[in-house]
Amino acid sequence: MERWEQEKGVRFLRKIGIRKGQTVLDFGSGVGHYSIPAAIIVGIRGRVYAIDKDHNDLNKLEQKAIFLNLVSIRPIGTSGELRLDLEDKSIDAALIYDVLHYLKKYERKILYTEVHRVLKSNALLSIYPKHTAEDFPMWEFRNMRLNAVIKEIQDSGFIFEKKYCNKIIHYDWLTQGCVFNFKKIN
Ligand SMILES: C[S@@+](CC[C@H](N)C(=O)[O-])C[C@H]1O[C@@H](n2cnc3c(N)ncnc32)[C@H](O)[C@@H]1O
Repeated sequence: MERWEQEKGVRFLRKIGIRKGQTVLDFGSGVGHYSIPAAIIVGIRGRVYAIDKDHNDLNKLEQKAIFLNLVSIRPIGTSGELRLDLEDKSIDAALIYDVLHYLKKYERKILYTEVHRVLKSNALLSIYPKHTAEDFPMWEFRNMRLNAVIKEIQDSGFIFEKKYCNKIIHYDWLTQGCVFNFKKIN
């Protein structure tokens, strides 16, 4: 996991478009498998908001950030609310990785609307849509196909741009997976 967070994950997030100095939102960050590499990339002048309702996971993330001296990470513990306590047009890139299957349709709509509000013009929204009908169906995505997920995001003010497939982290394992990059329509 250390190798993922400090090397492979860094390469992966660079490939999908995360850059030095950026402000990144990692919604549903968990223990930081993506927040940590994002913080390494953005550096001391950037910022990574790691939002999660699981405060234990966020504590683990915070300990790792302290150990690695990643001062750009801001863990934000919530009660699961989808309204983001972030300024309008303040974020360069948002990651929503392996989270959407937790949320009901109306909740996902609130989240997309909020992410749209906080992203800058033309900014990146990157999604790892796990547990759809064709990929270990689970919870709110058990009857939802990938195309329908892409459509609901496009209907919320984003254009689908690119799919990146690679070995990536799912829970605590490296697996073949694809993330989908969208651009905010202004
Ligand atoms: C399967 S984990 C994925 C963690 C991380 N994104 C990754 O890919 O390694 C899903 C995370 O989303 C969080 N989550 C789910 N619903 C949430 C909500 N409404 N608000 C904040 N976090 C949420 C969970 O607590 C959990 O940590």
